[in-house]
Amino acid sequence: MPRTPPSSPTTAPHRPAILARMLSLEDFEPAARRRLPRPIYGYIAGAAEDNASRDDNRAVFDEYAFVTRVLRDVSHRSQSVELFGERYASPFGIAPMGIAALSTYRGDLVLARAARDAGITAIMSATSLIPMEELAPACPGTWFQAYLPGDQPRIDALVDRVREAGFKTLVVTVDIPISANRENNVRTGFSTPLRPSPRLAWDGMVRPRWLLGTLLRTLVRHGMPHFENSFATRGAPILSANVLRDFSARDNLSWEHMAAIRRRWAGPLVVKGVLSVDDARIARQLGADGVILSNHGGRQLDGAASPMRVLAQVVDALGTDYPVMIDGGFRRGSDVLKALALGARMAFVGRPFNYAAAVAGEAGVQHAIALLRAEVDRNMVMLGVKACAELGRDALIRKR
Ligand code: FNR
Repeated sequence: MPRTPPSSPTTAPHRPAILARMLSLEDFEPAARRRLPRPIYGYIAGAAEDNASRDDNRAVFDEYAFVTRVLRDVSHRSQSVELFGERYASPFGIAPMGIAALSTYRGDLVLARAARDAGITAIMSATSLIPMEELAPACPGTWFQAYLPGDQPRIDALVDRVREAGFKTLVVTVDIPISANRENNVRTGFSTPLRPSPRLAWDGMVRPRWLLGTLLRTLVRHGMPHFENSFATRGAPILSANVLRDFSARDNLSWEHMAAIRRRWAGPLVVKGVLSVDDARIARQLGADGVILSNHGGRQLDGAASPMRVLAQVVDALGTDYPVMIDGGFRRGSDVLKALALGARMAFVGRPFNYAAAVAGEAGVQHAIALLRAEVDRNMVMLGVKACAELGRDALIRKR
C-alpha cells in the first residue's frame, strides 16, 4: 500500500518567515485579520445572523471521542482516498469560496495550484474573479461550483461553458435560494460590488501590504476584476458606485433543473448544501454522483443543523458506496477523521485555506495543507488504522 508522505510543513522552499508561527489551521485567522481590510476579513469570517450554525459546526466535534486501537503495526499506511476514479493524496479538499482573488493576488489560482501540487482537490467558486478558462488548463483536476437560477437556457449555457473550459467535475450549490441575512457585512461595509466610499478607502489604506500586493497589483496587471463565472457571460465589476450585480432569482431552482443538468453534464455531478436524508436520496435517484452535506459554513440559514449531526443518518440511508462528502468547521485532522469514521468520503475546509492564502499566498496554502495532512497522518497512527477505509463507527463514542 503506498504511503502518503506526511510532507513536513517545515520543508517548503522560500517559506515566508511568518509560517514558522502557523502551527495549526486556526493560527491563520488572526494573522489574516491583521493583513486584510476590515470588510474583506469580515466577509470571510462572518456567518448569518447570530452565528449559531457556524459555532455549532465547531462545537459538534467535541461531542465525539476516539476509541483507539493499539499494537496493530501501522508503519505502512496511506491517507489517500479514491473518488470519482481519481486518487487524492488526502481525505480533505478546499471548499469553494467567492472573491478569493481579493484575499490574495490571483487567489483562485493560488488555492487551485496549491491543491494540485499537494494532490488534493479544490473547488472553484461561481463567484470567482478569474475566468474559469484561465484556471482549468492550469489546474485541470479542479472541480467547478455553480450557483444557478431556475432558468434552463441560462443553466445550459453555463454548463456548456464549464465543460468547454475543461472541468470534469461539476458541483451545484443548492443552499443559497436567497441571499442570507449577513448583518456583519452591513456593519463592516462589505457588499458586492464594493461601493467606493471614504471609509472603504481608509479600510484599504490601513492595510498597505494588501493594497499594494493584492489590489493594486491586480488592477495594474489585469484591470478591474469582474464576477467572471456566475453565468455564461461576464458579470459585474467588484468595485463600482452604481453597477448592480445580477442576483437572478434562485428560489425557483428545482430538482427538475437538476435532472436536466444531469442529462447535459456527463462527468461527475455533486450537489452541495444538502442536509436532509430525503434530499440526499433524491440527489442519488436523479443520478448525482455525490452530495456535500453543508450549511454553507453557517452563512445561510442560521440555526441550520451542523452537517456532522446528519452525516450518519445520510450514510445509513444512501449506503457506504455512495460518496457522501461534508464541510463546515473542519479545522483539525481529528475533525476529518471523525467524519470519515461516520462514513464521509471527504471533508472540505473553507475559511482556514482562505486565511492561509491571505497570510502567505501559495506557500501559506501549501503550509496549511501540510499541517492538516500531518495531523491526519499522526492521528491515524494513534487510532491504529492504515487506511481511511478502515475507520468505522467503532472508532468513536458519543460523549453525551
Ligand atoms: C463560502 N462558501 C461558498 N460555497 C459555495 O458553494 N460557493 C461559494 O462561492 C462560496 N463562497 C464562500 C466564501 C467564503 C468567504 C466562505 C467562508 C465560504 C461556503 C464554503 O464552500 C463552505 O461550505 C464553508 O466555508 C465550509 O465551512 P468552513 O470550513 O469555512 O467552516
